[in-house]
Amino acid sequence: MPQILGKMKRVVILASGTGSNAETIIKNWQDREDVAVVALLSNKEEAKALAMAEGYDIMSRFFDREERKMGKMIDLITQLNPDLIVLAGYLLKIPTTLIDLFPNKIINIHPALLPKYGGKGMYGMNVHEAVYEADEKESGITIHYVNENYDEGNIIAQFSCNIEEANSAKEIQQKVLQLEHKHYTEVIEQLLDL
Ligand code: GRF
Repeated sequence: MPQILGKMKRVVILASGTGSNAETIIKNWQDREDVAVVALLSNKEEAKALAMAEGYDIMSRFFDREERKMGKMIDLITQLNPDLIVLAGYLLKIPTTLIDLFPNKIINIHPALLPKYGGKGMYGMNVHEAVYEADEKESGITIHYVNENYDEGNIIAQFSCNIEEANSAKEIQQKVLQLEHKHYTEVIEQLLDL
């Protein structure tokens, strides 16, 4: 009953790569009537995430540099009127225009325990290689608000895993990705009051 009375919450996902986090969220919400991914947008034409979203009949759009500079991606996001903008492996900096339009409504997931191993250049395997080289005993994920600096917005939630047994950066990546898939949806749902 509540979902009939309440408005359906709308999420826009931004992704530049594989989209395994995006796919996990989409799958988790397949039978939900109170929340939906309304679009997946990308800055990379070849991003697997775009084809993945299409496969679920979700609007998926690529915006090239020129279109982004013209504000076309921001225009579409504004039209879509999302309750939350979720970055899932989106590699570009978010323009301040978008941050100002959606205050505290843009979140990111980072594959390490910030403030360590964050900032420019700290993405993908670079993160896990740095963690491995530093001989850390644990790593994990950080879900945080997006501000104008890479990985510096307020932290919403962190989850950690033991990596003492990991023999390579790849193994750390796999462990951390499992944590991402386990927790990203639930944190988004909490933020949406679902
Ligand atoms: C994840 O490790 C996420 O933390 C980072 O980019 C990666 C995206 O993976 N921001 P996928 O595209 O969701 O598979």
